[in-house]
Amino acid sequence: MTNELLTLATDAARAAATLLRDQRPSTLQIATKSTATDVVTDMDHAAERLLVQQLRAARPDDGFLGEEGADEQGTSGLTWVLDPIDGTVNYLYGIPGYAVSIGLRDGSGMVIGVVCNPVSGELWSAQRGQGAFLDGHPIRVNEPTDLAMALLATGFGYDAARRARQADVLRSVLPRVRDIRRFGAASLDLCAVACGRVDAYYERGLKPWDLAAGGLIAEEAGARVDGLAGRPAGEDLVIAAPQALFGPLAELLAANRAAED
Ligand code: IPD
Ligand code: CA
Repeated sequence: MTNELLTLATDAARAAATLLRDQRPSTLQIATKSTATDVVTDMDHAAERLLVQQLRAARPDDGFLGEEGADEQGTSGLTWVLDPIDGTVNYLYGIPGYAVSIGLRDGSGMVIGVVCNPVSGELWSAQRGQGAFLDGHPIRVNEPTDLAMALLATGFGYDAARRARQADVLRSVLPRVRDIRRFGAASLDLCAVACGRVDAYYERGLKPWDLAAGGLIAEEAGARVDGLAGRPAGEDLVIAAPQALFGPLAELLAANRAAED
């Protein structure tokens, strides 16, 4: 059953990825959301419409939660969690680091995750308990032991006060690690942990659609994905790291109050 759902999610992600890549108008219609720098384009809406249409046609009883407004309860116990464009600012500027992110969750957590980068064509996927894959090949996190040698990814929210705090945290983290990357799409950051392109990732302020698919993919690739002080990963804070790095990174982030504004 989950194999069929994975195929469905993969097909939908690829269809939305093709739309975003091939139908991008030279001038995007832009509206702002939470702040002046938090933007949504007409293509975010078009891609979410396509995802919902395609998934609903096959799964009429499932629920939907999408960044651009999809919000339906459903009756099957399964909910699709959608980010039609993760990395909208990259999309706006023509930076090739954005993704279509599709997660499917049940009462116990995430069941399926698919993240597709339309420009590279890469597609990461995972099913609960069955490992993680990049373009069909199994992937694993790196096994670094020393935080000082670790390459970290992170991201920043759209609110100025929160960004000021995130800069404070970063100031303390940066001298303690190999280096930092800020790529601009949380789902791709989580997939980067999963396939060893970075060692670990942390960010405050992620929404469910930023975390859903990439979180499962990172976990299935061997990462621990959690928050601080025994809390699950969520809007407060997401830390995704190989087991051996999680403790030292969490300690550093806690000491710098990374889960507080
Ligand atoms: C954003 C990106 C970004 C992260 C922000 C997210 P969006 O998602 O994932 O990397 O730092 O927290 O909101 O707005 O491009 O879908
Ligand atoms: Ca988005």
